Parts: sequence; C-alpha cells; structure tokens
Amino acid sequence: MRVVAGNWKAHRSTAEAEALCVALAEALQPGIGGVQVVICPPFTALHVARHRLPAEIHVGAQDVFWEDAGAFTGEVTPPMLTGLGCSHVIVGHSERRQHFGETDHTVSRKLQACWRHRLTPILCVGETLQEREQGHTIAVLRRQVHGALNGTVPAPLCVAYEPVWAIGTGKAARPSDCSEGLATLRGELQGLWGAAARSVPHLYGGSVNAGNCAPLWNEGGADGALVGGASLEASVFAAICRSAGEGV
Ligand code: PGA
Repeated sequence: MRVVAGNWKAHRSTAEAEALCVALAEALQPGIGGVQVVICPPFTALHVARHRLPAEIHVGAQDVFWEDAGAFTGEVTPPMLTGLGCSHVIVGHSERRQHFGETDHTVSRKLQACWRHRLTPILCVGETLQEREQGHTIAVLRRQVHGALNGTVPAPLCVAYEPVWAIGTGKAARPSDCSEGLATLRGELQGLWGAAARSVPHLYGGSVNAGNCAPLWNEGGADGALVGGASLEASVFAAICRSAGEGV
C-alpha cells in the first residue's frame, strides 16, 4: 500500500479549507486503489476536513503534544486529535525542528504519545544542504531515526525522507538521491525493529508535484510522498495520488 499525504502547513482559513476539501473529495473520486490518502490541514480545519472528506480519506494533524492533558497553554494533545477523527500526525517536520526547537528527544516523546492513542505518526527526517555538502547525509539520517525510535517496539508508522534543501524550493531530490536516503532509513529501521520494519511505508517529501512524482516511486523506491505546496491544488494532488496508484 502506498501512502500520499498532503501537508497544508499554515495555509487555508476554515472556510477556505472547507472549499478545498470539497474540491478534493470530487477530484479523488471514484477512489484510488492501492493508495492511502492522508490530508493534514492546520488544527483549525481538522473538524471541517473530517466532515467534508469521504471516510476512506484519512485526516492527520501537523504536530501533537506529548502529554494527554494539563496546564500546557497552546498545546494540542493526542486525545483532542482522536476526538476529531484524526488517524495520523506529522511528527518532527524540519520546519518544526528549525523554527520551534523540535529535537530528536521531543520527537521521540511525540511518537510514544501517538502510539498510546493509536495515531499513526509520519516521522520526518532529512539533512540540510550544508550537511549534504559536508558528506554527513547518512550520519544525519541514522541519528534522527535512532534518536526518535531507539528503545521502541514495532508500531504503526510512516517514515518520510525530506531533504531540507528540497522542501519548498522547487528542487526535488533526484530519484537516485531519494533511493539512497530511503535505503539508509530502511536499513536503520530494520536494525531497530527487525522484519517488522518491512511493513513501514517510506515516503519521499520535498517539492513533489504531478510532473516529477512517477520517477520517485518507479526509480527512487518511495512508497509514496509527503506533499506540501502541491497539496493545496485539488487536481494536482489528485494527479499525484493517481500516479502513486499506478502499478501498485
Ligand atoms: P513541499 O513541502 O512539497 O512544498 O516542498 C513538503 C513538506 O514540507 O512536507
């Protein structure tokens, strides 16, 4: 099963989100075999997304707090998300690591919180341009996976390889870079989880669009994609989902 997730980031008011969900529901008809579609709007649009999208389309959040409840002003907790009908959560996105102090340690706490509440985390990892240029890509990916998952037992998970230099730049990784990164991640997860790692979808993210996605699965070995900018256009996102469904 491939997975295509749309990360809307901080875009779309509730009213705009409703219109986009209606358009997505239409564009994704009559359903796409072999592909799990996940829509991750801002927290404020989760409710409307769950109500406007057909049941077979999953709804996910873009972040989550690690405690269930308490005096934590501004945070959104796992039970709040499950109560809204969410099934997935993006955890450790590079924008959260870069701008909001997310670390491998907080990522790991968030993963545990997801699993306590049967939410499937989409764990994001990826190197910066500087790390790549210094030849540290493999070490960074290993450190991020290990930091997030060391000591865990197999549980529902998606891993997204998102090279930071490819996010929002229009410069997607080449299929060969994609397959190299994914091989590192698969190897690291297999070291931690053994054979159970094989059932974890490994996605690629970073400037994916309808024109460049096919080689990412066919040559790059991605089990799907985490799509940012191109997920805000219903017809484009649907085209990516359809491409992922071809030949599965
Ligand atoms: P992008 O974002 O597709 O706009 O590059 C991907 C992501 O940040 O998940």
